[in-house]
Amino acid sequence: MRRPIAPAVLMAGCLALTGCGGSADGGDAAPDLSVQSAYMRQPVTDSLAAGYLTVVNKSDSSDDLVSATSDIAEDVTVHETSGQKMKEASSLEIPAGGRLVLGSGGNHLMFEKLKRRPKEGETVSVELRFTKTDPITVEMPVKSVTYQPTSSKSSSTSSSSHH
Ligand code: CU
Repeated sequence: MRRPIAPAVLMAGCLALTGCGGSADGGDAAPDLSVQSAYMRQPVTDSLAAGYLTVVNKSDSSDDLVSATSDIAEDVTVHETSGQKMKEASSLEIPAGGRLVLGSGGNHLMFEKLKRRPKEGETVSVELRFTKTDPITVEMPVKSVTYQPTSSKSSSTSSSSHH
């Protein structure tokens, strides 16, 4: 039997792979995403939990949050709230130079078919998937059932709308 692989072919393969390394094609800069203010309220049921976070995009290129996974739930879906109802979103845009806010009463991550019920003080790991950016893993602290983030709603300095 003759060996079918010639060294010259292997060599050409290596060169082709190395040639792919540079990505200077002059297009948009890659999105530069970071995640802030992630938290989950301790769920009140055994089956469902909602998670909140903010994705900040520091680049000139927009991206989309398309899905998420977590070790505590069989399903994690991206939900948007319109009016009083929430529904699954196929994707949520993180605008160039902007942010995508998942917050109480608005967009959120929905953890369904919980494998275990997270308790206050624990941390839940969530992997976020995007159209362009590599997945980002977020450690989401579990807060009390009534937790309100201080950053988005500062209750102590709230300006009352009536006098
Ligand atoms: Cu929901």
